[in-house]
Amino acid sequence: MNKLLISLMLTLGITGVAHAAGDAAAGKAKTAVCAACHGADGNSAIANFPKLAGQNEKYLLKQLKEIKGGTRPVVEMTGLLDGMSDQDLADIAAYFASKKTTIGHAAKDQVAAGQSIYRAGVTKKGIAACTACHSPTGNGNGQAGFPALSGQHAAYVEKQLKAFRVGERANDPNKMMRDIAAKMSDVEIKAVASYIQGLN
Ligand code: HEC
Ligand code: HEC
Repeated sequence: MNKLLISLMLTLGITGVAHAAGDAAAGKAKTAVCAACHGADGNSAIANFPKLAGQNEKYLLKQLKEIKGGTRPVVEMTGLLDGMSDQDLADIAAYFASKKTTIGHAAKDQVAAGQSIYRAGVTKKGIAACTACHSPTGNGNGQAGFPALSGQHAAYVEKQLKAFRVGERANDPNKMMRDIAAKMSDVEIKAVASYIQGLN
C-alpha cells in the first residue's frame, strides 16, 4: 500500500505542475450560480449537496474538470460548467478553497464505531484506515489532491461511498475508493459518514 501511495503521489505531483494558478477574487464572481445549492461561501445548507468550503484546490479543480467532461456525471449540474474555461474553473477552485468549512455533529450512537473505522479501518475485512489518505483531522492532503472530509454532510458522504461501492462513481485514481467501499457494509458506511460530519 505504501509503495503504491508514494508512486501515486509522485505521478500526481508530476502531472500537477502545468496548471495555471487560480485567483480566488476572480472566482467569487463566477460562483453566483453555485450558491443556490452549495451556499454563497461553499457551506451548503442541504445535506445532499456537498460543502465545498475549505476543500483543497487540487481536488476541487479535478472534480470540476471531470463534472464538466462527464467523467463524473452530476445531473444537477448539467450544462452549468459548459461555458467555463480551465482558468474559470481554477479561479472557482481557489475561491472555495479559501473559505472556511463549518463543522457539524456526529450522531452520539455512531461515534465509537465511526471513529474506529476512520482511524483504524476494519483489519479483518481489509478496509484501510481513512486517516492514511484523508488525515486524522479530515483535512485531506492538498498536495496529493486527496479531499478534505472534515465537517462534510453525512448524507453526502454516505451517498459517495455507496456510489464508489457499486462503481457508479469511478473517477478515483487507481480505484483507491472503489476498492475500499466495495468491502464496506451499509452499517459501516453510515457510522463513518456520521463521524466525518463532526470531524475536525
Ligand atoms: C442544482 C444544484 C447545484 C448547482 C446549481 C451546482 N451544484 Fe455542484 N453539485 C451538486 C450536487 C448534487 C453535487 C454532488 C453530486 C453527487 O452526489 O455526486 C455537486 C458536486 C459538486 C462538486 C464536487 C464536490 C466534491 O466534494 O466532490 C463540485 C466541486 C461542485 N459541485 C461545484 C459546483 C460549482 C462550481 C457550481 C457553480 C458553477 C455548482 N457546483 C453548482 C449540485 C449543484
Ligand atoms: C489510499 C488513499 C485513500 C484511503 C485509504 C481512503 N480514501 Fe477516500 N478518497 C481518496 C481519494 C484519492 C479520493 C478522491 C477521488 C477523486 O479524485 O475523485 C477520495 C474520496 C473520498 C470521498 C469523496 C469525497 C467528496 O468530497 O466527494 C469520500 C466520502 C471518502 N473518500 C471517504 C473515505 C473513507 C470513509 C475512508 C476510510 C474507510 C477512505 N475514504 C479511505 C483516497 C483514499
